[in-house]
Amino acid sequence: MEKRELLYEGKAKKLFTTDDENLLISEFKDDLTAFNGAKKSSEAGKGALNNKISTELFNLLEECGIQTHFVKMLDDNNMLHKRTKVILIEVIVRNIATGSLSKNLGIKDGTVLPFTLVEFDYKNDALGDPKLNDQHALILGLVDYQDELDKLRRLARQVNDILKPYFASKGLNLVDFKLEFGKDSSGNIILIDEISPDNCRFWDMTSGEKMDKDRFRQGLGGLRVAYEQVLNRILGK
Ligand code: C5P
Repeated sequence: MEKRELLYEGKAKKLFTTDDENLLISEFKDDLTAFNGAKKSSEAGKGALNNKISTELFNLLEECGIQTHFVKMLDDNNMLHKRTKVILIEVIVRNIATGSLSKNLGIKDGTVLPFTLVEFDYKNDALGDPKLNDQHALILGLVDYQDELDKLRRLARQVNDILKPYFASKGLNLVDFKLEFGKDSSGNIILIDEISPDNCRFWDMTSGEKMDKDRFRQGLGGLRVAYEQVLNRILGK
């Protein structure tokens, strides 16, 4: 499958059309951004690692019955996937308080939450991805019906119920993560985007070491090595 036109360039991926109008190719970039684009860098090999990690995790989720846009990994940096109509809601799932949850609500960093928290953010860079409640999402027309919001929450919890024990078996705490969803050509809501240390937080269960994009956000260094370790643990190496 060949790339045709560049449809869109995002912060971490370029999106291309293909000969098949129902399929797109995502090219995973080495670029890193944080704080709504205020902090920028690049890490050689990061894109390929995220492509491989996402491929493994999409395969795992598909095996567990979660519908995703994934079709196949084409090469190191390119993934073939279904075309969807993107739902402009970032679905954030949290098992442990950190990041913006600790900052906004004063919950001590590292607190294990009494239950899994699912939040919605408006996927809108110009507005800085603000928090949404269900009424905001409906007023903005981000979905048509309340039951679609309920479905996003249900799917996000199902993904967490699969990934949290999976990563625990690899010695990693799945602290929190961001999911995106889209509607396929039949109107089904399916999981899209990527699942990687760019949009998940992983803490080593023994050392507590951060194995995700916080290494860049917090200037800790060693990002590529951490991402490689995440991939190696997934692959059982
Ligand atoms: O920054 P915050 O604590 O809200 O992030 C929660 C989770 O969502 C983290 O795993 C982070 O990597 C992810 N996230 C993301 N893209 C955003 C906002 C958050 O991948 N725009």
